[in-house]
Amino acid sequence: MSNGRGDWHGYYFTAYGIAVKHGFTGTEEAWLESLRGERGPGAWLRYDLDREVLEWTFEGQEDDWQELLDINDLRGYVISATLDQAQQARDQAREAQAGRPRLLSALLAEVLESLAPFREKYGRDIPVFVAGGVKSGAELRRYMDQGAAGAQFATRFIATEECDASSGYKRALLDAEAEDITIVQSPVGMPGRALKSPLIRRVEAGTQPKITRCDRCLAACDCKTAPYCISKALIAAVEGDWENGLFFCGANAGEVNTLSTVKEQLDQILNEWRTAP
Ligand SMILES: Cc1cc2nc3c(=O)[nH]c(=O)nc-3n(C[C@H](O)[C@H](O)[C@H](O)COP(=O)(O)O)c2cc1C
Repeated sequence: MSNGRGDWHGYYFTAYGIAVKHGFTGTEEAWLESLRGERGPGAWLRYDLDREVLEWTFEGQEDDWQELLDINDLRGYVISATLDQAQQARDQAREAQAGRPRLLSALLAEVLESLAPFREKYGRDIPVFVAGGVKSGAELRRYMDQGAAGAQFATRFIATEECDASSGYKRALLDAEAEDITIVQSPVGMPGRALKSPLIRRVEAGTQPKITRCDRCLAACDCKTAPYCISKALIAAVEGDWENGLFFCGANAGEVNTLSTVKEQLDQILNEWRTAP
């Protein structure tokens, strides 16, 4: 079977596709992070029809395929459905990934590439910081190895004694599990990640009362069509009002479970950064 990649015959499918097929429900980024320690923007599997072996490689290193297993070892109890499932897995993975943010490492590579001519032209470094869902010092190290100057962390520092958010905000974050996080469309049309507070649930259910008073604080917001007043919702969150607040958070908010201090957070990040492989 031709695959459009030279005269190699077989099937290509992503390891992420297989993970989705077998029940993984998150994005490709979440899946890669769940593997811990894996480098590169993605992994591929391919089935070589001639040699009947499954092989794998990291995306971008398609000249270097490693044998994963001899398919004959599986014949009889898995192989019958494998090829159909591979196709389905690929479709499902594409669907799960559609409209989702791209991998941070892929974005970083693109940004670094776009900046290269300007570094050259102006003869100076242009530092790039990654932001959004960077979980640990080990991940920071990985992005720095890839060319980032550093990373911006937000969510894990909300649950510190020093953070000036109310104790209600911190409690909401500490209590949140992964399934309590959602993407909301703000009244000005920008997507944002937030906790599924009662406000968000009412908006989703269409039961949030109409806006009765508007100070026209944002030109892009129309109080006749906006599902809620974002100023009011942000102030409610700052004050810890769980019923009416819009609690923005990062993708890993479900993993913030203990109140700490800025020093403890920084010590942990630096320690992970120093000891990362
Ligand atoms: C509560 C909260 C408020 C934020 N406010 C802003 C903001 O006003 N402007 C901005 O550029 N980024 C804002 N961010 C994004 C962070 O600056 C940061 O880039 C990102 O959240 C880091 O990801 P992390 O929270 O997964 O560590 C906010 C993030 C959080 C969690």
